[in-house]
Amino acid sequence: MQVTFCSLRTHQWCFILFNVILFHALLFGADFVEEYFLHALPYVDMKVLEIKDKARKLNMEPLRSNLSKYYILSQSEVCKGKNIFLLALIFSSPGNRTRRDLIRKTWGNVTSVQGHPILTLFALGMPNLVTTQQEIDKESHKNNDIIEGIFLDSAENQTLKIITMTQWAVTFCPNALFILKVDDEMFVNLPNLVDYLLNLKERLEDIYVGRVIHQDMPNRDPSSQEFVPLSKYPEKYYPDYCSSEAFIMSQDVARMMYVVFKEVPIMVPADVFVGICAKSIGLIPIHSSRFSGKRHIRYNRCCYKFIFTSSEMTDAEMLLAWKEINDGKECTLFETYSGLISCKLLTYLDSFKRFHIDTLKNNAMYYGD
Ligand SMILES: *[C@@H]1O[C@H](CO)[C@@H](O)[C@H](O)[C@H]1NC(C)=O
Ligand SMILES: *[C@@H]1O[C@H](CO)[C@@H](O)[C@H](O)[C@H]1NC(C)=O
Ligand SMILES: *[C@@H]1O[C@H](CO)[C@@H](O)[C@H](O)[C@H]1NC(C)=O
Ligand SMILES: *[C@@H]1O[C@H](CO)[C@@H](O)[C@H](O)[C@H]1NC(C)=O
Repeated sequence: MQVTFCSLRTHQWCFILFNVILFHALLFGADFVEEYFLHALPYVDMKVLEIKDKARKLNMEPLRSNLSKYYILSQSEVCKGKNIFLLALIFSSPGNRTRRDLIRKTWGNVTSVQGHPILTLFALGMPNLVTTQQEIDKESHKNNDIIEGIFLDSAENQTLKIITMTQWAVTFCPNALFILKVDDEMFVNLPNLVDYLLNLKERLEDIYVGRVIHQDMPNRDPSSQEFVPLSKYPEKYYPDYCSSEAFIMSQDVARMMYVVFKEVPIMVPADVFVGICAKSIGLIPIHSSRFSGKRHIRYNRCCYKFIFTSSEMTDAEMLLAWKEINDGKECTLFETYSGLISCKLLTYLDSFKRFHIDTLKNNAMYYGD
């Protein structure tokens, strides 16, 4: 082996080096470009300054004094007198009790990272069934970690859910520096997230961070469930926004969002809605490729010790990931490197496979008509 290696000519070495670089560029290039080069320009005009001013002076007292109008379960005292670094609001469906219990036992059980307090709560809307509501009441009594808004928890009402929960954070948890919105199908590495937030150029304001989606287009197919009519959103592209599975806002951003919510059409997907609000307050979403978006990251111990989130987690994987990231065994630089290569490659393969299956299915449906 050694002999053949040494006898390689310069151009052969160059060829190998070129391939190694190409491989890394293909695998990590897109992340790199997104993270460092694809920035829109921030802007501040009179309107933004006005909104900032309004947000500073927001008076939530009327809401606090008649909160039973907005929330069935309000947890109005849970933040009182506490310094909270990160408030994690886990968006969960009323019927997903087992998933909530699993999160309580795993990544949701982190109460502080490097001395920075974390509060984890579940955000729900109302269920269809009275019996489910009784179950939720019992669960809430036991755990004291459920906020339930007064709206039907359906796929169409997700924007309403974000509005209601942002309103909750601004009203009842104004002392939380950052607010994480995350879905209950996700795995979240809270220690990594906190570490990242602490290093964000030491800024605590104007933060809106997640997996940023560029140049997404509204669905103009009238037969689709996600149809967005031109009258509701006339432009060709959506502004950059953070994918809905997991994103973070700083408290000042949440307050500004709350001020502009009423001015933005609600007929777009929930994450786009937040993106449009962000744009109207002159905010640029910050991208990090360590957020998975809607992709499931193939499990690999050292990869999971590095990333922030992974989507579509099974119960078994959730337990495994939690156990292994807390095993106290560090990953060496090389292990992290090879872990990232492996989970990235496999995740690409998975999405490629899924793309093909979806195309096949669509074709089958098409021919079946
Ligand atoms: C809430 O209660 C206050 C009195 O404390 C009242 O003035 C106000 O109109 C109420 N707000 C709403 C939205 O009902
Ligand atoms: C949670 O609820 C949603 C909607 O009812 C369902 O699609 C999903 O499979 C549930 N997830 C889990 C982990 O139970
Ligand atoms: C959560 O963590 C605490 C320690 O911080 C531990 O005592 C408790 O048993 C954990 N709860 C669960 C359900 O694992
Ligand atoms: C959204 O919630 C409201 C308030 O509960 C309800 O009237 C409406 O039917 C819900 N919309 C959908 C599409 O579920």
